[in-house]
Amino acid sequence: MVDLSDVSVEFEDAGETVHALSRVSMKADAGTFTWIGGPSGSGKSTLLGVISGLLEPKSGRVCVRGIDLAGLSQDQLADLRLKHVGVVFQENNLIKEFSAGENVELPLRAQGVEPKSAFSLAMESLGEVGLGNLANRMPAKLSGGQRQRVGIARALVGGRSVLVADEPTGSLDSANSRGVFGILREAADRGVCVIVASHDLEVRNYADRFIQMRDGVLNITDGAGN
Ligand SMILES: Nc1ncnc2c1ncn2[C@@H]1O[C@H](COP(=O)(O)OP(=O)(O)O)[C@@H](O)[C@H]1O
Ligand SMILES: [Mg+2]
Repeated sequence: MVDLSDVSVEFEDAGETVHALSRVSMKADAGTFTWIGGPSGSGKSTLLGVISGLLEPKSGRVCVRGIDLAGLSQDQLADLRLKHVGVVFQENNLIKEFSAGENVELPLRAQGVEPKSAFSLAMESLGEVGLGNLANRMPAKLSGGQRQRVGIARALVGGRSVLVADEPTGSLDSANSRGVFGILREAADRGVCVIVASHDLEVRNYADRFIQMRDGVLNITDGAGN
């Protein structure tokens, strides 16, 4: 589902070259939950950025669903994210003027899905994160944990096959963190390729395998990726 080979990313910072990723290779299959750990600055967010097509590598190959991202235009990359790759950040970035349900419908409406189907798919996705009864709530009336679940519902809506999450529990207490990781585990069990960068050790009870990043280099300790 996700296949990186020899991917390098560099940033220029105050005249110095930072090797954020150095010849990173990894695979992640459908139906698996990969945890990316490692200290701050080790390249976790950069790795997720490359997988979601938000960052272009300096060298190497990134394939998602068998498609080489290097061959895609910015519009095609945006379209790939819209249809196939959901992204979740520490802050859920819900639109505060929209209800939970409307927020989840957004990626579908942006694809031109007609309102009735968008509504029912959004309800289905909210149901999967345990919020089927709160579709009409405005974000301000939801708890932090509930807002993050809405963000996950939005990232998964319409059957996206890859979910990339960057510190998704960074603003949550441990009970809510377990709830969020449990939802991501269920998504993986339904066949989604889930990739999570996290400092939160709770994630180890939910992930199939662990990728340790250090100084832009990764080390896979479990599972089939290589
Ligand atoms: N836009 C950027 N400009 C310059 N340096 C960056 C940029 N983004 C990340 N970096 C550097 O790349 C390295 C990896 O960063 P990052 O992927 O955010 O690590 P992590 O998510 O593990 O904390 C760090 O040294 C960071 O300072
Ligand atoms: Mg980060």
